[in-house]
Amino acid sequence: MVDVAKKETMDDITFRSDTVLSDVHLHTPSKRHLMVRLNTVGQPVFLSQFQLLLNKNNQESERKNEKELITENMGHQIREHTMATPLEDVGKQVWRGAFLLADYILFKRDMFRCCTVLELGGGTGITSIVMAMVAKTVYCTDVGEDLLAMCEQNVTLNKHLTEPEGGEVKVKELDWLKDEFCIDPEAPYSWSEAEIADLHDHTTVILAADVFYDDDLTDALFKTLYKITHNLKNSCTIYLSIEKRMNVTAYSRVKMLNFTLRHMDITCEAYNHFRNTLNDLETLQDSKMKYTSEPIKLAFCQFLVYERIEQLELWKIIAEPL
Ligand SMILES: C[S@@+](CC[C@H](N)C(=O)[O-])C[C@H]1O[C@@H](n2cnc3c(N)ncnc32)[C@H](O)[C@@H]1O
Repeated sequence: MVDVAKKETMDDITFRSDTVLSDVHLHTPSKRHLMVRLNTVGQPVFLSQFQLLLNKNNQESERKNEKELITENMGHQIREHTMATPLEDVGKQVWRGAFLLADYILFKRDMFRCCTVLELGGGTGITSIVMAMVAKTVYCTDVGEDLLAMCEQNVTLNKHLTEPEGGEVKVKELDWLKDEFCIDPEAPYSWSEAEIADLHDHTTVILAADVFYDDDLTDALFKTLYKITHNLKNSCTIYLSIEKRMNVTAYSRVKMLNFTLRHMDITCEAYNHFRNTLNDLETLQDSKMKYTSEPIKLAFCQFLVYERIEQLELWKIIAEPL
């Protein structure tokens, strides 16, 4: 429960040159965020409620209008997040790509029922929590103890959404820059042998939302995808959301991350690198696995309130043994 004495609201955000802010937080409908605490590195943590507009009749098969906004049977996802963080802490904010992926999961929810799922770069956990409304087990992974603690807190705050369906979110560390899973029992968010075996034996879906903004990290993420899919027992479908952002220099990158161009006829380096790396994966001469990708049309209805701008894309990759 929130300590009333600590309740503060924030209407105006102060921008500094070294901070980034997700548009999701700028455009939260009420424009008000409740500050509940400072995290261990002194950043203010806010509590927001994101509306989940659920209606049993609005699944793929019964959809009437494309891009229809569902307005009945509302539920709420409660979310702790920070705002206006330095670049290395972007995972503590919620990004539009997470909403897009969550929308797709809700739209196709029958397809994900009882699955075992891995999310890479899960951030505050919004996509994993939505997935756990239908899936059996969701391994929500990221790096950084502070971020993973916030994610775990969000999993607890949203048990009302996941528990009725029996879904479980397991928050774990998975660093794309490291070759191995963290199995040190002393380390928080480490993996047990049984969890690693479960992941490899049962995962059929991998998710990652808005994780392509730095070329080195994109390379590391694709390397991780390659390695994990090779270790899975089954074929797997990977869903990746990405928001095209303008080309930025290292100098101005931090300032520009929260800026999305309306008309994108200039280059988007991070996006181009994503497409090239995806192409490399598909054309790889690999004796064990075949990767096939395609963009998913964004003509499905919205279950979450956010602006589905034209720079958002959703990609599907099928990874199957040869
Ligand atoms: C822009 S945020 C997106 C977070 C969340 N998926 C969303 O859309 O709201 C990028 C995420 O990638 C994570 N990330 C960055 N480097 C990583 C690494 N080496 N290993 C795992 N995750 C990483 C960040 O911590 C962050 O959560």
